[in-house]
Amino acid sequence: MIVLIRKSHTDKLNLIRFLHSFRSSSVPISAKKARQMFLDFYIRDNHYSFVKSSPVVPFHDATVPFVNAGMNQFKGIFLNTHKPLYSKVANSQKCIRIGGKHNDLEAVGQDGYHHTFFEMLGNWTFKECSKEEQCSLAWKLLTDVYKINKQHLYVTYFGGNTTHSLPADNECREIWRKLGVPSNRILPFDMPENFWEMGATGPCGPCTEIHYDHLRGPYRAQFVNKGLHELVELWNIVFIEYKREADGKIVPLPDKHVDTGMGFERLVAVLQRKISNYDTDLFQYLLKAIFKTCKDIPQYKNVFGEHDWNSLHASYRILADHIRMISISLGDGMIPEENQKLRKVLRKAFSISENVFKRPNGLVKELSNYVIDNLGAVYSELESNSKQIHMIIDYEEDIYQELRRNASAEWERIILNDTALANLDVLEMPGLVQAYKDIRSSKIDDLTPQYAYRLYDTFGLDESGITALCKSLNIRFDPVAFVKELEAVKQRSKAGTILDVQIPELADGTLKTEDNLKYDYKRTETGYNFQPVEIQVLKILQSNAPVDEVKGGAECALILDKTNLYHESGGQISDGGNIDFSIGEFRVRQLKKINDCILHVGSWCSDKDLKVHAKGKLTLDESRRMCNMQNHTATHLLNAALKEAKGATCQKSSKVTDRYLNLDVGVFSEKLSTDELKSIEDKINRIIQDGVVVSVTETDSQSMLNQNVTVIPGEVYPEKNIRLIEMNWNNSLVSREPCCGTHVHNTKDIKLFCFVAAKSLGRSTVSIHALTGDRAIKAKEYGASLHNELLQLHKSVTENSQEISDEHLQKLRKKLSSNVNDVNVVPLLVKVECLRILDEIAQQIRERSRNKLKEYIDLEMKSAVETKILKSDVDNKFIVHYLHTSIAGESVPLQKATKAVDGMPVMVITCADSVVKARCTVPESYKNDKFTAEKWMQVVGDIFKSTVAPPKGQDKELVCNLKGKRIDDSEWQSLLSQSLQAAELYAKKHL
Ligand code: ALA
Repeated sequence: MIVLIRKSHTDKLNLIRFLHSFRSSSVPISAKKARQMFLDFYIRDNHYSFVKSSPVVPFHDATVPFVNAGMNQFKGIFLNTHKPLYSKVANSQKCIRIGGKHNDLEAVGQDGYHHTFFEMLGNWTFKECSKEEQCSLAWKLLTDVYKINKQHLYVTYFGGNTTHSLPADNECREIWRKLGVPSNRILPFDMPENFWEMGATGPCGPCTEIHYDHLRGPYRAQFVNKGLHELVELWNIVFIEYKREADGKIVPLPDKHVDTGMGFERLVAVLQRKISNYDTDLFQYLLKAIFKTCKDIPQYKNVFGEHDWNSLHASYRILADHIRMISISLGDGMIPEENQKLRKVLRKAFSISENVFKRPNGLVKELSNYVIDNLGAVYSELESNSKQIHMIIDYEEDIYQELRRNASAEWERIILNDTALANLDVLEMPGLVQAYKDIRSSKIDDLTPQYAYRLYDTFGLDESGITALCKSLNIRFDPVAFVKELEAVKQRSKAGTILDVQIPELADGTLKTEDNLKYDYKRTETGYNFQPVEIQVLKILQSNAPVDEVKGGAECALILDKTNLYHESGGQISDGGNIDFSIGEFRVRQLKKINDCILHVGSWCSDKDLKVHAKGKLTLDESRRMCNMQNHTATHLLNAALKEAKGATCQKSSKVTDRYLNLDVGVFSEKLSTDELKSIEDKINRIIQDGVVVSVTETDSQSMLNQNVTVIPGEVYPEKNIRLIEMNWNNSLVSREPCCGTHVHNTKDIKLFCFVAAKSLGRSTVSIHALTGDRAIKAKEYGASLHNELLQLHKSVTENSQEISDEHLQKLRKKLSSNVNDVNVVPLLVKVECLRILDEIAQQIRERSRNKLKEYIDLEMKSAVETKILKSDVDNKFIVHYLHTSIAGESVPLQKATKAVDGMPVMVITCADSVVKARCTVPESYKNDKFTAEKWMQVVGDIFKSTVAPPKGQDKELVCNLKGKRIDDSEWQSLLSQSLQAAELYAKKHL
């Protein structure tokens, strides 16, 4: 068992390090070699089979937040729900321990041997448990192969536990004796140390551990399992014999197995004669990289506790540790948005980069390259997913910076008043500000589990966040009760999705509907062949209560013995259908599943009574089913094509209906462009045309690990009987997804695919709607006719042969803004093209009216001049004119108006959309002390109460504008005539 107690930091550690530097002589074994020696020993020399490390995402086990031990992928074998592929296996497994029963997060960096991510070297035997074989192999590997001195090793075994009536493992003690371990080095321990459990529930059993004393000095058995830095557990050999039930009971398993795990980083430290794992070649390259890439920082030193006075060296260690965990998790497809613990680790790494190493941007990504280089040879997914790793780090760093700008400032203000909160990091808990305000306003001393759930649900605080906040605010909080409440809410929400039906046979599972027939359909030359099935009514439910019969016209639900209809699940809506009873027809609208029963909800169309046990023939609504199948298969193609186009995506949700498909996907780079949508649409249509086979196979959680399957982050899959839907388009696009939906058997049957909408939801999610089959064909035809209409219109506008009203353009725009549910839908890409044409047409029309306006201004001003000449004496040569602008609703180019009058002062006032504007020009020869453009305009400015100014860079004496001012309609006429009069008077007076 890897001991989870935090260690104190003493001078002794530094002294030991010093002493050790004098002792090493032979060349230490590299980490790479040590890993290989382990695998060679078990696989080559002892005929164990190699099984690849599983991803650190536990996608078929909701009981653990991360894969936390090598045995996780074999849990089903231990619990006897799964058959082993091999009887003996070995590997090095990627493990993460930052949540649940095994949580080492707080210890990271404070000591030299706790990590968020570590490798576990493990070997297993299934359904066979030879303690002797396991102990002797482990002993041989350590002492013969790695040549670790027996004098520095201790072994422990399970000493028994009376509370659980578990006997001491004396057999194990004797085996160690036989192997030559002195009795005083074989030590018994109780459950916390020597009874290993995977989590709160699951496989467990007594274990025997091998501990190593880095001091390599005198006998120190009394310090084993006492949490000393220098006396650490190296290897844990677990004899899986029991399982822990949800009620806490420990019950025997049908078979016994072996599960061993050695902390690889600790082994390497022993082999390289280092006490701290950070001094081995598993971390040194990272610590050096941090030093190299960050300017003006001291080099990393192996100092701890008070010797590391400003925590610089702990920061080095935390960053090096976290970057390994981040790279591994992202490489395995974990998405921080879906996993707050990973996000917390990322934010800690960003915060250290910025605050300690003064690198606000890019350091984490840069360091991830070192991890990819170093561990990529062992875990190839690091290399193949490097783009994804980089994209998500960039994306998360942007969010972190934004959060820092916004939330941090407010939190700092809060801390000023409430200093006890200073130890809480708002960047690790973005909802902290709101949660704090909420708690403060409620003035409580006790945080109920229900209130805690609200903080969790509304502000995203997890158990540790709520605990920390309550501690700082001196509010009582019971985390255990909170976890119970979480579970209860989950159960309630599950129950909420089904009908509230109280029938004992439904609850205890005696009533069942056989529904595998939903997959029983064949593809023929002419289409799909869905066979009707003969059924019998097991129960009739009316208003959720069982009844023996229903009258004609009744709305009710039937539980049948079998069905060929699909019930809503995995995002796909349920089928519809008809049940033919000799006395009438039952129309099925919807299906719901409760435990093992499927309720057929619908109406009874007959004037006779329908009774329990009636027999009938159930026929599927084929056209609805066909559309569902087309849309579902196309959703898989879209998911794969998006991933290929954007490098990293994560499916958030999907909806498959008979009318359309909807896929919400997280994208971590640039938003999807029209060009990308076009190329994806084209690609999907090529795949449809090429008639790619859609294969359906059954797999299990263990085989799925090796099949490069696209899973939904956070989704928990069953262990067995997982339907795997695969399409392989000449190896250039491969879709492989676990799915319970119904699919076409060949992509040709999708007929056509087109996007209808792609909208952004929040920062990174794009919500895509698309059509397939006949609806897509119809949409395409409709789109083509609209496109054609617009092209014609464009042509006639260009040729100047057609007048187009605003209403006409509005109508066309409306047609283009169709909804996915409308009868006439316009494909997205056609819409984009049509809108472009429409904009061009509108632009042309504007252009034309602008030309007309220019002509109008010219004429208007000329006639103003002529009128003036006719009316006035020649000495009064100036124009003050109000220009009517209702024409084409355009704002008037005043410059054009003043220019139209040559050789005399001119003032033009105009008003468009209730905004008055004016401009005047004064030729050089007319200007005098009292009469300049600015002074003249000021007269008008005073009346309209608006500022006056010359156009930028021009002489204010020669040209001046009145800044546009909104005028109330009721005042307009009076202000206008006042201004015209005043401008006339001023000119007359001063010219
Ligand atoms: N599963 C055991 C452990 O994690 C080997 O320690």
